[in-house]
Amino acid sequence: MPQHKVHNFSAGPGVLPQAAIDGAMDALRNFSGTGLSLITVSHRGKEFEAVMEEVVANAKELLGIPAGYSVIFVQGGASLQFYMVALNLLPNGRKAAYLNTGTWATKAIQEAQLVGQVEVVASSEDKNFSYIPKQYAVPADAAYFHITTNNTIYGTELHSDLDSKVPLVADMSSDICSRPVDISKYDLIYAGAQKNIGPAGATMVIVKDELLQGIQKKLPSMLDYRVHVKNGSMYNTPPVFSIFVINETFKWLKSIGGLSEMYKLNLEKAGLLYGEIDENPLFVGTAAVEDRSLMNVCFVLKDKSMDNEFFDYCKQHHLSGLKGHRSVGGFRASIYNAMGRDSVEALVHTMKEFASKYA
Ligand SMILES: Cc1ncc(COP(=O)(O)O)c(C=O)c1O
Repeated sequence: MPQHKVHNFSAGPGVLPQAAIDGAMDALRNFSGTGLSLITVSHRGKEFEAVMEEVVANAKELLGIPAGYSVIFVQGGASLQFYMVALNLLPNGRKAAYLNTGTWATKAIQEAQLVGQVEVVASSEDKNFSYIPKQYAVPADAAYFHITTNNTIYGTELHSDLDSKVPLVADMSSDICSRPVDISKYDLIYAGAQKNIGPAGATMVIVKDELLQGIQKKLPSMLDYRVHVKNGSMYNTPPVFSIFVINETFKWLKSIGGLSEMYKLNLEKAGLLYGEIDENPLFVGTAAVEDRSLMNVCFVLKDKSMDNEFFDYCKQHHLSGLKGHRSVGGFRASIYNAMGRDSVEALVHTMKEFASKYA
């Protein structure tokens, strides 16, 4: 074990609650009193079936998911959802509307184009995706409107739930469970687990049942939401480890008071860090102030030639995972739900100290 706590700012897989990791370690040794490891027993045994039931119930409770929605866990990451959404929800001869707010949204658009016609209603590519477009019209005949609520690479986030006249589909991979959300405004939400709720391997999908009733096509089973809903995420062997840890994370979220409490803590952590970025003479934030993400805080040194010095300085202070995505450069502090305020304080302290030495 390292002598010092290492503060984990990784963009994903990212930091998880210690309680979830401890729960996972116990279950790897002795799952639910079976005397066997979680990853060696049948997913159809009563012990894992209980986990699956609980994780769905906890998701519904935490996110306030109304009746008429299903929660499923599938594989293939959020990247498979880019295609699956269009395959299921874009009928022949119709078009889908997309808001292009970054690399992941662009990938979602490209995959949907393999299925049918796509209209990009607005894009922030003109300013390297540093803001969220606000002025656009979604065609009334679009089969659905796809948004990315948090842009992990560029550090921008939609801070409220949009009103949409056509079914609203959201990639919430990097801000799921970070704030209370009005689920009734969405028709389908998907989120790869590995940022805010668990290890890589499972993708949570929340889908309005009515939306699935409108699907006319025959689809390959593994790409058909109806198959996964009908089989309670057990059409094939589910990613048992990932789902178990997601449930442990949900239990932790409930123990701290749910999503409104989590949101308060997230606002505090982000406020602390953005405050330092704005005050510190050496650094500058890269995202439009009103669209700043509470999850991924992107910033650069005004003098780029000092980048390596700051990285080394962070390493000496046990701050890990701060390198910005190659398309933005600079630094990205991912401060997901499970990141404690102490870690953000450690980064702020390091930035201050660095400025007192070099400014
Ligand atoms: C917003 C967003 N969508 C999609 C993805 C792709 O996820 P996956 O690697 O699970 O396919 C990512 C990964 O970082 C992401 O941040």
